[in-house]
Parts: sequence; C-alpha cells; structure tokens
Amino acid sequence: MLNVKLFELQAFLTEPYEAALEAGLKAAEEKLQTASGAGGEFTGWVHLPRDYDKEEFARIEAAAARIRSNSQALVVIGIGGSYLGARGVIDCLCSPNYNLKKKDTPNVYFVGNGLSSDAMQEVLDLLDGVDFSVNVISKSGTTTEPAVAFRFFREALEKKYGKEEAGKRIYATTDKARGALKSLADAEGWETFVVPDDVGGRYSVLTAVGLLPIAVTGVDIRALMAGAAEMMENCAKGTYACPAWKYAAARYALYSAGYPIEILACYDPAFRFMSEWWKQLYGESEGKDGKGIFPASVDFTADLHSMGQYIQEGQRILFETVVRLGASDRQCYVPRDEADGDGLNFLAGKSMDFIRDRAMDGTLLAHHEGGVPNLIVETDGKSAADLGQLIYFFEYACGLSGYLLGVNPFDQPGVEAYKKNMFALLGKPGYEERRAELEAKLNK
Ligand code: PA5
Repeated sequence: MLNVKLFELQAFLTEPYEAALEAGLKAAEEKLQTASGAGGEFTGWVHLPRDYDKEEFARIEAAAARIRSNSQALVVIGIGGSYLGARGVIDCLCSPNYNLKKKDTPNVYFVGNGLSSDAMQEVLDLLDGVDFSVNVISKSGTTTEPAVAFRFFREALEKKYGKEEAGKRIYATTDKARGALKSLADAEGWETFVVPDDVGGRYSVLTAVGLLPIAVTGVDIRALMAGAAEMMENCAKGTYACPAWKYAAARYALYSAGYPIEILACYDPAFRFMSEWWKQLYGESEGKDGKGIFPASVDFTADLHSMGQYIQEGQRILFETVVRLGASDRQCYVPRDEADGDGLNFLAGKSMDFIRDRAMDGTLLAHHEGGVPNLIVETDGKSAADLGQLIYFFEYACGLSGYLLGVNPFDQPGVEAYKKNMFALLGKPGYEERRAELEAKLNK
C-alpha cells in the first residue's frame, strides 16, 4: 500500500500541527464524502472507483480492442484535464518511448493540447500510410485547441476512408447531453463516451477520458481501477492512518510556515507527465482567491544538475515531495572493466536501482540540511494498480487540501480570462467590444 513519510519535519515546523489540523481535516473529509462543500456537485470522483458505470467500462474495453485490431495509431485530441492523465499513465506504465517500441498495440499521438502548426503537421505526416482512429475528448465540447485539431484529423480520416468508414473510427468523449461535440457526434453517429457531470476535467483520468487511450496501449485498466478502489477504502478511514490526511496536513502546515512552493520530484523519467498531471490537479484546485501552494516539478537526477543549485541554496521558500516508485523488474548491473580507467569499479556489479537509491538518500539529506523540507510518497511497485492508488491518493489529498485552505477545489474561474481575450482577438462573434479594448491596449 502507498505510504507517506515525513522526513524530520519538526526541523521546520516548530509547532505540532497534526492535532491542530484534525478538526479541519474531519470537516474537509465530511465535505468530500457527502458532497456538501463548495463545489460539491463536482465530487463524483470520490466514489468513482466503486460506482463507475460498468456498462460503459465494458464498451471502453471493446472499443480499445477494436482500435487495436484495425489501427496502427490512435490520435488522442484533448487539453488540460482531457489530456494529461492519459499521457501521464501511458508514459509511466508503457514508457515515454512507447511509440518507438516494437509492439502489437497502436502508437498513441496526443494533439490538440496547444496551437503549434509544427506539432500538428508532424503528427499528420506520421499518419501518412498508417491506419488510424481518433479519440476526441472535451467535456465542454467547445475548447478551441482540441476543436481546431479535430477539424484537421477528421478531414484526414474522411479523405483516407470516406465519410462512413471514418465515422466508425471516431470516438468522442464528452458531456452526456450538452455541447457542440455531443451534438456533432449524435448527428454523425460516432460512438460516444461520457465525462460525468459531477467529475471535473482534472479529476477525470479514471473515467472514459483517461481509460480509453490507456486501454488501447494494453494497460490493464481493471487493475488501475482496483488500485484506486483500494486507496478509496483507505482514504475513507478519516484519520491520520490515511496517507492523504498525512500529506494534506503536512503541506498545509508547511504553507502556513512560509513554504509556498512545492516541488514534486521523481527519479524515474517516465513519471514526467504524471508530474504535469499533478501540477494541473493542485494548481487549478488551490491557486485562487490570492492563495495556494505553487506546484512545480523536477526530474531527478537530471534536474539535480540544473535546478539542484536553486533547491540547495536559493530562497528558502520550497518544500519537496519525492515520489519513490517501487523497484524496477528490469535491473541493469554496472559492468566490470579490468582497466578501470574511469575509476568506477567500486560500482561494478551494483544495480542501477542501488545507485539511484544512494543518490536519492544523499539528495534527501543534502536538501534537508540546505533548508528544504522533504515529504516522501512511496509506492510498492510500478504496476497499473500502484498507479491507480497514487492517482486516487493525490486526488483525495487535493480535495482535503483545498478545503483546509478555504477555497473551492473544484472550480477554475481563472482559466476563462485568457479564453475571452483570445476569442475577442480572433474576432469571435459577440466579443466585438472587448476586441476593440484589447486592440487599443496592444497598439499603445
Ligand atoms: O480542469 C479543467 O477543467 C481544464 O483543464 C479542462 O480540462 C480543459 O480546459 C479542457 O476542457 P474540455 O474538456 O472542456 O475541452
């Protein structure tokens, strides 16, 4: 079972905090469990690992099997909460080099998560001569980046297969009733999957949003859900025996003690997009009303050779949360070299994990001595079930953290500001006045 360790936090927190935060955590717990807090209408993810739609789950597995049998590539179109979870899980469990591997499952290309012509054209080029399907994911069905990308890939599909066959290769994951994508999908007869009303984008990885692309790669999505369900049971304990309580309380105490930046660190480069997913989860949930911990991330040991300097000696406003994934089942051992020209024979026969673990402990001690509090999140292994536990753990701790902080952890009003300006500058009907204001400012 996933575990949270607090490394000598008393060095940074002079006051004991666990007892002081217990009542706040109990209140937050109650709000999450009974959907009675701010944003309670978006807490469907709390019991999702138990209550998910089993009929839809079977359709996801069937669609994934179909895509595996008729496609060499799947194009996944989505942004933010409709993108990062699937990318994080696929990279972590299948490798960031998944598309380069020899395998009998389709390549997965993520598009519609930005506005780069180069990025889009590159994927269109990669699809030349390749059988492919498209999974377009948008809860609102109106987000510009994925909607624009979808036009290109739908056109490519229709050119290649004709409208009817193309329609059988489009899978739309969206609201059950509302939005442009839902209307289009119904009109065109595409298979649809649902983003439940009560699950916001950044909490949606364990719905069809994440599950369909993940299942296409052959990852065991039943094990992923089972891991999340185990953690759900654990979190419902409502005491410090729950790792989410421990984590939420420690980070709140650190924030209150003058540490407003949290760096998520992992020693496995495959974790990079899980960190991106985590940043969205915590950044969008807590960063509002002038409050919130700023979530950052690093890949160790690579970033010890860049960001390591700041972490060790920069402003003392950071704390680190280190994710320690369980041991790899593919160990490499350092070869012996009789000449020992590089002086490395003291490591001959040692596994990479052994060396990494010494680096991890050495860094922990150095950063602690340098004034950086450290929290450690440990998983048993690196399986789908372990990742399911980790996802639910971070989600639950995020809900608790938001309520402890006194914000609504389930809205994101700030995301609208750039969209309104972009629409105005693009000349979208209805934004004429705003456009004039913005253009006047730009032309000053
Ligand atoms: O968390 C969020 O709500 C956002 O990141 C959204 O997921 C993102 O903007 C994409 O929205 P949609 O799925 O409606 O296209």
